[in-house]
Amino acid sequence: MLKGWSLAFLCVLFTLTVVCSQSIEDEFSNPCTNADSCGQCMQISPICAWCGQEGFPRSLKRCDIVQNLEKTCNLTDITNPKSTFKEVKNAAWTSGGLDADPIQIKPQELEFTLRPNEPVNFKLKFRQQENYPVDLYFLLDLSYGMARDKEAQKRLIALGHDIGDKMKIITNNFRLGFGSFVDKLLMPYSAWTDTMLDDRCPKDPCRKPHDFRNEVDLGTDYSLFSTKMQAALESISQSLDDAEGGLDGVIQALDCDRIGWREKSRRIIVYSSNSLFHLAGAGKLGGATKQSNLQCSLDADGFYKDEKIYDYPSVSQVASKLREKNANIIFAVMEDVVNDYRKLSAFLDGSVVGELENNSKNIVELINNKYYELRSRIKFEAKNADFVDVKFKSKCRGNVLKETAMCENLEIKESVEFDVTLTVDKDICKGKSGEVIKEVVLDAVGLNETLVVRLNVTCNCQCEASNEEELNSPKCFNGNGTFQCGVCECNPGRYGRNCECDQTEISSEESLRKCRMDPNNTLTCFGRGDCICGQCECYTLSLNSKLEYSGEFCECNDYSCSFGPNGLCGGKKRGVCNCGKCVCLEGWSGHNCECSTDQSRCVASTGTICNNNGTCNCGKCDCDEGSKWFGPTCEECPNCPTQCSEHFACAECTFHFPGTLTREECDKQCPNVEDVDELKESDGVQKCQGKATSDGCTLYFTYEYMDNNEVLIKVQKTKRCPREAPLAAIIGGTVAGIILIPLLIICLCIFIRNRRDAKEYADFLKDKNKARWESGANPIYKDPKSTFQNPTYKGQGGM
Ligand SMILES: *[C@@H]1O[C@H](CO)[C@@H](O)[C@H](O)[C@H]1NC(C)=O
Ligand SMILES: *[C@@H]1O[C@H](CO)[C@@H](O)[C@H](O)[C@H]1NC(C)=O
Ligand SMILES: *[C@@H]1O[C@H](CO)[C@@H](O)[C@H](O)[C@H]1NC(C)=O
Ligand SMILES: *[C@@H]1O[C@H](CO)[C@@H](O)[C@H](O)[C@H]1NC(C)=O
Ligand SMILES: *[C@@H]1O[C@H](CO)[C@@H](O)[C@H](O)[C@H]1NC(C)=O
Ligand SMILES: *[C@@H]1O[C@H](CO)[C@@H](O)[C@H](O)[C@H]1NC(C)=O
Ligand SMILES: *[C@@H]1O[C@H](CO)[C@@H](O)[C@H](O)[C@H]1NC(C)=O
Repeated sequence: MLKGWSLAFLCVLFTLTVVCSQSIEDEFSNPCTNADSCGQCMQISPICAWCGQEGFPRSLKRCDIVQNLEKTCNLTDITNPKSTFKEVKNAAWTSGGLDADPIQIKPQELEFTLRPNEPVNFKLKFRQQENYPVDLYFLLDLSYGMARDKEAQKRLIALGHDIGDKMKIITNNFRLGFGSFVDKLLMPYSAWTDTMLDDRCPKDPCRKPHDFRNEVDLGTDYSLFSTKMQAALESISQSLDDAEGGLDGVIQALDCDRIGWREKSRRIIVYSSNSLFHLAGAGKLGGATKQSNLQCSLDADGFYKDEKIYDYPSVSQVASKLREKNANIIFAVMEDVVNDYRKLSAFLDGSVVGELENNSKNIVELINNKYYELRSRIKFEAKNADFVDVKFKSKCRGNVLKETAMCENLEIKESVEFDVTLTVDKDICKGKSGEVIKEVVLDAVGLNETLVVRLNVTCNCQCEASNEEELNSPKCFNGNGTFQCGVCECNPGRYGRNCECDQTEISSEESLRKCRMDPNNTLTCFGRGDCICGQCECYTLSLNSKLEYSGEFCECNDYSCSFGPNGLCGGKKRGVCNCGKCVCLEGWSGHNCECSTDQSRCVASTGTICNNNGTCNCGKCDCDEGSKWFGPTCEECPNCPTQCSEHFACAECTFHFPGTLTREECDKQCPNVEDVDELKESDGVQKCQGKATSDGCTLYFTYEYMDNNEVLIKVQKTKRCPREAPLAAIIGGTVAGIILIPLLIICLCIFIRNRRDAKEYADFLKDKNKARWESGANPIYKDPKSTFQNPTYKGQGGM
């Protein structure tokens, strides 16, 4: 029993294995087989390899799944480059001392050789280091509404000390700078006559408005910051509209080297304003028609020179400048405009918005909080990643791995890890050859720290390199092509496996059309041959066979007919196989030409074929269905009464002399009669019985035809004579049979049913007491859904 089960289990396992291994060869799940050259093969998928063996069987695909090729191709001829990985630079984490550059990202440089569509994985670690350098540039709106308040002025002047002290707690590597802005000195944004200015600043003296001015370069002299701030606030200014030119200031502050941003530092602009900002297009109204060039242009006093030439920057221009400079912005703005800045901030990576109170009371706190928000967040961005799919995954500070490029709330000295997956699209190879080199930069937003990933993408095979190919090789039709990786790359105007076809004689489209039996059938030559200049050259049936497919479109297999005992189609003397069907030679017929057409054995004693009651097939009579005739020539008729009664007289006269025949008649008419102990049945022997004329006993006999077509009769020596049956037994039996037995059966049925009902009722009562059915859980209800799992299905597309 156990053996039986394990055998069955083995069978199932085997079937599964066969099914699964076959699916690898399945045309649909094998993406490789469409490639015509080694390079194409490399670009399809990393599971594909190329066989460059000379004389590789035509019927096999040179580009195939590696496991398949290993069975058919000489191992030394298989091209299947493996991806390689090199850590070029992986310096240790360092904190931001005053002299050394900080390192927060590990590793810093990687190099991969890989094929298109081949994903590569690596880990990227980020650690918040202490004393990371911070460059903070304060960009102040000097318009009347913002800076007029005496309280606010005092706070801004004190900012230098306050912020310096606060930041020292966070980093010992802190620089502070300061710039101011109002608006472009152009109508309709700003006033420039004294009357106009007086109108706009009713109480205090106003000075001429300016667009952007760099007041203090980034540095550690915080008192200079305060002095300059005081000077700037002494004469505030005013524009005419309620929006200012602050974004001009942002661009200038970011782009100007003289401001003194350090290469490796967290760059922060604190943008403080109470009004909206002008955007691209607005400048045109005043005559600044050129699109902002995003270039630094400051005069000796730090004023923006080109304010009247270039328009305000657009949001996307600001965003790209921020990215380029890896800078952050803290918008410290007043309540009535805070929502507008939130909308702007949504477009700017590395920006945050904070609400400034009326008299700038909370300015230091705000900078502190927002600095923490920027600092505690790490986000990666892939630059120069066209044709490359980059995926980041991280657990951040939790336990769940999710797809994200950003982690938040990191503490100092805390590290997070990202799983990065890069996949190169094969389009990167378009129009290129050999190895395509791509440098993807994984950039930490707001920090000038990167991981550079150099990808050497294999777009071609080594054997396609110019030093390995054979130009105008004799292997390619008298030098009409280049021989490389085992195949011919045809010169212009030629095509075909060995470049044997001339485009001017028959176009390749025409050629392919001619090789299709049905123009709508996409397979040329049924997939069993090569289309050579419009003609199919059929493959051999199997690898080591000399037999080939045949037919104009290789649609035929001349070796797929059934094999009889004498060979294909009964052997060479009987028939030949043509396109899967036996064509029989003369004298033979049948599926396998196994039948002789000779009908002599079907001739009945009457001289007709099968007694006219059948057909002669393959030298044998098939008697008509439904007719009473049977036998080798359809001459027998067991149910024909005439036959038995015809011979009865002869049978009877042996036993019951005299019967219907006299002794003389008997001897004369019945020459072949025998007495036997037991009648034997066999083909051609007919059983008969009949009632003897004299005593009414039943007589058993058989008759058969002898070779000379005479009849031989055999009679059983014992006969059966009737006895008188007792009447009572007959009547009793009849009554019992008709009435009593059915009655008994009915009673039994009723008894059994009652017993079962009683038991079920008892069970029901028992269950009823026991059951504590939860409401809604009906025990009788069965979910109509059920899940069936297909055991042969494998999620990974057959691999
Ligand atoms: C396989 O390669 C070896 C070495 O190049 C060669 O000797 C052998 O003949 C090759 N076999 C076939 C079947 O091409
Ligand atoms: C980032 O640092 C590199 C040196 O590591 C420097 O060459 C580059 O200019 C810096 N980038 C910016 C935007 O300053
Ligand atoms: C801010 O100042 C304006 C005018 O100076 C005043 O109307 C407003 O109530 C003040 N808001 C707060 C929150 O103090
Ligand atoms: C990748 O390409 C570069 C530039 O050609 C080369 O220096 C480097 O050795 C290549 N790396 C690999 C692993 O082939
Ligand atoms: C190409 O084929 C043509 C036609 O068979 C032949 O005349 C010629 O020599 C072959 N070679 C080159 C290099 O054209
Ligand atoms: C091929 O397809 C077209 C459109 O589906 C149909 O009209 C045409 O009859 C088809 N030809 C054959 C030979 O089946
Ligand atoms: C069948 O055979 C019998 C006896 O030879 C003959 O009489 C009869 O005509 C045959 N039936 C047919 C349909 O020819």
